[in-house]
Amino acid sequence: MSISIKSQNDIEMMKIAGKKAASVLEMLDHYVKPGVSTEYLDQIAFKYITEDLKCIPANVGYNGFPKTLCTSVNNVICHGIPSEDKVLKDGDIINIDITVIYEGWHGDTSKMYLVGQVPAHAKRLVDITQECMYAGIRKVKPGAHLGDIGNAIQTMAEENHYSVVRDYCGHGIGQIYHEEPQVVHYGEIGEGLVLEEGMCFTIEPMINLGTYHSKLLDDGWTVVTKDGKLSAQWEHTIAVTKSGFEVMTLRDEEDFSVS
Ligand code: MF3
Ligand code: CO
Ligand code: CO
Repeated sequence: MSISIKSQNDIEMMKIAGKKAASVLEMLDHYVKPGVSTEYLDQIAFKYITEDLKCIPANVGYNGFPKTLCTSVNNVICHGIPSEDKVLKDGDIINIDITVIYEGWHGDTSKMYLVGQVPAHAKRLVDITQECMYAGIRKVKPGAHLGDIGNAIQTMAEENHYSVVRDYCGHGIGQIYHEEPQVVHYGEIGEGLVLEEGMCFTIEPMINLGTYHSKLLDDGWTVVTKDGKLSAQWEHTIAVTKSGFEVMTLRDEEDFSVS
């Protein structure tokens, strides 16, 4: 089993795909508000991706997934299915996860949105989860271990008395949506795969307010917290560069660049 190494040209293609994926999340900023259904958000995203970006929405039909977006509200950890019946209300937190394919290359990213006025404990979970992702990203450079990333995320989450979901993880990405390696969001410094320039993978920690245990709903997709408490997630697609990392799915609102 080996990890694919992307050429400079491949990485240029991934950067275009990543930028386009990021633009979907930026576009959705204007639409996420109380009273809107997750189905409506999905329809807007599908139209934008196919008509404006001229990309393929990678989730549609992926292992039978029916929609463009994953929309995971409150106690939903990941893979929530957009639905007419799921109408956002004041105080909700929602993760929207999108993957687009541009000329065969994937860009995979997600962010949390606050719906109306969100309670302080929920906003804090959202903010610290983003910091956990950034702490993981900052560890990326040739010679670092995957365990360094997981350890940084786990340490920050647990210092804040949160837990790191164990059942789902980040992944290698390129012309294949999910490829090796698995990028878990917990671990020990110095353990696991040694990173090399040209590797591309996602870092996408799911952090829970309560315990890390998850439960899969009967629809076969929606993953919820076992204790019913809130969960948050952020995701970027990253390339390992000579000097460190590049975040290929960076949005304009983010104040975070190459190390
Ligand atoms: N985008 C998700 C990830 O971060 C995977 C979603 S697969 C789907 O890896 F089928 F649920 F869309
Ligand atoms: Co992913
Ligand atoms: Co994703």
